[in-house]
Amino acid sequence: MIDSRPVSFSGVQPSGNLTIGNYLGAIKNFPEFSEKYKCFYCVVDEHAITVRQKPAELRRRTYETPALYIACGLDPEKNTLYVQSHVPAHAELAWILNCFTMFGELSRMTQFKDKSAKHADNINAGLFTYPTLMAADILLYQTDVVPIGIDQKQHVELTRNIADRFNQLFPDTFTVPEPIIPKAGAKIMSLQEPDKKMSKSDENENAVVRILDDRDTIIRKFKRAVTDSDSAIVCSPDKPGVTNLITIYSCFTGKTAEEVEKEFEGRGYGEFKLAVGDACAAKLAPVQEEYKRLLADKAYLESVMKKGAEEATYYARKTLSKVRRKVGFVNL
Ligand code: TRP
Repeated sequence: MIDSRPVSFSGVQPSGNLTIGNYLGAIKNFPEFSEKYKCFYCVVDEHAITVRQKPAELRRRTYETPALYIACGLDPEKNTLYVQSHVPAHAELAWILNCFTMFGELSRMTQFKDKSAKHADNINAGLFTYPTLMAADILLYQTDVVPIGIDQKQHVELTRNIADRFNQLFPDTFTVPEPIIPKAGAKIMSLQEPDKKMSKSDENENAVVRILDDRDTIIRKFKRAVTDSDSAIVCSPDKPGVTNLITIYSCFTGKTAEEVEKEFEGRGYGEFKLAVGDACAAKLAPVQEEYKRLLADKAYLESVMKKGAEEATYYARKTLSKVRRKVGFVNL
């Protein structure tokens, strides 16, 4: 069967600490996305070890991440969900691309500069060449679109430059991918500094609600959410705290912002925050239950990883063998 859908590639860090921002933004759109695109979701364990990891934790999170995605609605039958290190073609192509990427280009990557400042005791070569592995991830699948957050845009730009350079030397090798920054159905802001996006790596735990937070934690975090000086529950640019809570409540209940404002007219922040927490906890409960069930079923998760790796390998090999031929390697 010929698949005419464009290809989408997503790299997913192995971590279970996704937030309701991730959930309401990207994750909830999984089903719709897989109709439009042929989707690859790759758990990037090789990228993860560019900073020190506790091996047992990395292994645990490599199971948790696919479990969480599936629990959130990703159908492993309709998408290719796999683990990066299960497909050796990623590391192989990354080596070749290293030889077509300039030291100066990698030196300009802001993520490298940030991370080497943060991990000054471990500025390893993998941290430096992180972007060429990412380019390999993307280019192996002749990817058309790469859904990313704004922080990864520079890496996709570099990927495009590497692809262009390679194609100049060896025509028709790679599809040059486009970054897409998915229009989150809603942009979810920090509960503590509502003019900042909710970030999974925020140091203040009260600023983020995680998909796996239990009910009491969720209620407590919303209770402590920063609101604004006057007590009206209305959306307004000078009331970012309340506006954010209204957005979250409307996402979890399906009500429009106007309906929410009506519902809480004349009522206090206390009551409103409790309602937001309640709606959020109620929507996440079945996701959390499914997550627990999946995590307990290692055999199933491994079968998903195995099927995903086989599918990915099929596509990756085609590109890799073409690249090997072009650069002059002997294919046996
Ligand atoms: N670097 C990405 C991040 O930190 C993860 C990633 C690795 C990725 N490979 C990718 C994202 C390929 C998109 C495409 O979030």
